[in-house]
Amino acid sequence: MTTENGITEQPEIYTPNNNRYSQMKYNRCGKSGIFLPAMSLGLWHNFGEMDSFSNAKKMIFKSFDLGITHFDLANNYGPPYGSAEKTFGKILTNELKSHRDELLISTKAGYDMWPGPYGNNGSRKYLIASLDQSLKRLNCDYVDLFYHHRPDSETPIEETAGALADIVHQGKALYVGISNYNAEDTLKMIRILKHQGVHCLIHQAKYSMLVRWVEKDLLNTLDNEGVGCIAFSPLAEGILSGKYNNGLPNNSRATKSDSHLKHEWLFNERLEKISRLSDIACERGQTMTQMALSWVIRDSRVTSVLIGASSASQIEENVKAVQQSTFSDLETDLIESILDNKTEFLRNL
Ligand SMILES: NC(=O)c1ccc[n+]([C@@H]2O[C@H](COP(=O)([O-])OP(=O)(O)OC[C@H]3O[C@@H](n4cnc5c(N)ncnc54)[C@H](OP(=O)(O)O)[C@@H]3O)[C@@H](O)[C@H]2O)c1
Repeated sequence: MTTENGITEQPEIYTPNNNRYSQMKYNRCGKSGIFLPAMSLGLWHNFGEMDSFSNAKKMIFKSFDLGITHFDLANNYGPPYGSAEKTFGKILTNELKSHRDELLISTKAGYDMWPGPYGNNGSRKYLIASLDQSLKRLNCDYVDLFYHHRPDSETPIEETAGALADIVHQGKALYVGISNYNAEDTLKMIRILKHQGVHCLIHQAKYSMLVRWVEKDLLNTLDNEGVGCIAFSPLAEGILSGKYNNGLPNNSRATKSDSHLKHEWLFNERLEKISRLSDIACERGQTMTQMALSWVIRDSRVTSVLIGASSASQIEENVKAVQQSTFSDLETDLIESILDNKTEFLRNL
């Protein structure tokens, strides 16, 4: 198969691990019929046109072999925009087609995607056109889950909700969700969708040991409404792995030119905290990365933890966190005493 950039890629014969479903925990998503793996894989970084296609394939296959059935995309993941969907679409077409019904594929629209007034935010025109484009790139008839990627205060919420409901009624997405909405707007969206006969399946929210805004009121709102929560950037883009405690490792996200991770997030006080947390992880027999992921999954209101990765070996390490997601009272107290800093309850790092 020759791709647009002229590289010839041979489809591989991929045989998934027969034991894949015995290794993962699956959590019901709020009050719905669907289960999500306790850990899901996001394709924000490392799946674009500039990244290694063979590494992308290895990460997808490793995930599926470990029971990760949920893959999260967005229209603008790349770079360039759209290319992560194309990468996933190629792997799906060539190697995973016969497993389509075992996969939960999500995509989103809400951020900048194409020029002009119709390629951003929350209008009906943008959301419907964007999903049609995503389906072509993914080579799918439908996605399992479509999100409005961020709230848009300029567009009436009824218009955005109407577009989401129609997308479900047309069968282009089986479920819909929202991302980055605060608790108040979340409740509004849930109610308006309900009025249109559509259940808001899930909220995708930033949540980690360093970014805890969801604890204030969002998690309870979702729980009360029977809506799931999938926690993104659970490692604070890698900071919570401890990899930046002694500088910038080669090829880490912070060293890349297109990275969103800002060097000012790597201040000494924070890195010292992570170093102290690593001692607790060690006592638990975990790596710091695993403990940070276990800590997010410890909350039963979190349906799934949405990781990113740059290698299959990271996924292999990370998935072990699912097996150790409880914390003793002593561990919880120690962790809280280290994290004790009001600024960590902000929405961003
Ligand atoms: N809805 C939204 O607005 C939104 C926003 C952001 C993300 N998301 C979703 O959430 C997903 C995850 O976000 P994220 O990538 O920021 O998640 P993350 O899990 O916080 O960070 C992932 C990065 O951490 C590093 N890492 C992972 N495992 C490691 C290990 N075992 N040891 C050392 N380093 C490790 C890797 O970076 P290196 O390159 O340094 O190895 C990896 O790319 C995205 O793909 C996307 O699907 C959604």
